[in-house]
Amino acid sequence: MPSLILEQITKTYVTSAEPVEVLRGIDLSVPSSDSLAIVGPSGSGKSTLLNIIGGLDRPTSGRVIVDGEDITRMSELSLSKFRNQKIGFVFQDHHLLPQCSVLENVLIPSLAQGRPSKEHLQWAEYLLERVGLSHRAHHRPSELSGGERQRAALARALILRPVLILADEPTGNLDSVAGRKVAELLLELQAENQAILITVTHSPFVASMMSRRLHLEDGRLVERPQNVSLTSNQL
Ligand SMILES: Nc1ncnc2c1ncn2[C@@H]1O[C@H](COP(=O)(O)OP(=O)(O)O)[C@@H](O)[C@H]1O
Ligand SMILES: [Mg+2]
Repeated sequence: MPSLILEQITKTYVTSAEPVEVLRGIDLSVPSSDSLAIVGPSGSGKSTLLNIIGGLDRPTSGRVIVDGEDITRMSELSLSKFRNQKIGFVFQDHHLLPQCSVLENVLIPSLAQGRPSKEHLQWAEYLLERVGLSHRAHHRPSELSGGERQRAALARALILRPVLILADEPTGNLDSVAGRKVAELLLELQAENQAILITVTHSPFVASMMSRRLHLEDGRLVERPQNVSLTSNQL
């Protein structure tokens, strides 16, 4: 089972004006595969926190332990290998390469290990089937709808079977139907792969689909129980 531990994470951005203290001591323990939502006002540090969890940015102090390894102590080279192999990212914007087909885009993370193997190709084809894009495998991203592009990005995030799936506003550019589909697929893929899913979202509905909800406010993370039942109209 994968695990994630955050210990006293702080982040202060040094700027030309006064320093910006964004995270002021974040503790979190996710002992096994689970789904979490992070919500909070714009500018509260959600992306900063997600990027620190995923090793795209480093905390000012504190430790991030992913699958038993302290990523805050890794060299840039070890960290980039670790990220590639263990962490799948999904952003608000799909970040697909326009000149590559959908299938090629899904295989891109596997290229760090050389040519894609037959297993990678089969897994990519399976993932495209799972996200309902088998019939679009040889199309370019520009020929897809927004929801389809985001589903292709989900397949790409899963290609190396990550232990951690990090999604930053994955439904932010989508209408409620397409957004709901993307959130459902994220959860299904998380469960099937026994990964940890962390989704930053503005959508109360998407947040309600995750098993834990954490609010980021004043640089701290507060866990809140579910208190209302929501419909997809509120996406
Ligand atoms: N590279 C940076 N340098 C200085 N300040 C930054 C930088 N990145 C983010 N910030 C500031 O940190 C705060 C949190 O940003 P962010 O994590 O993007 O928030 P959110 O994702 O919750 O909207 C904001 O006030 C933002 O201006
Ligand atoms: Mg953000």
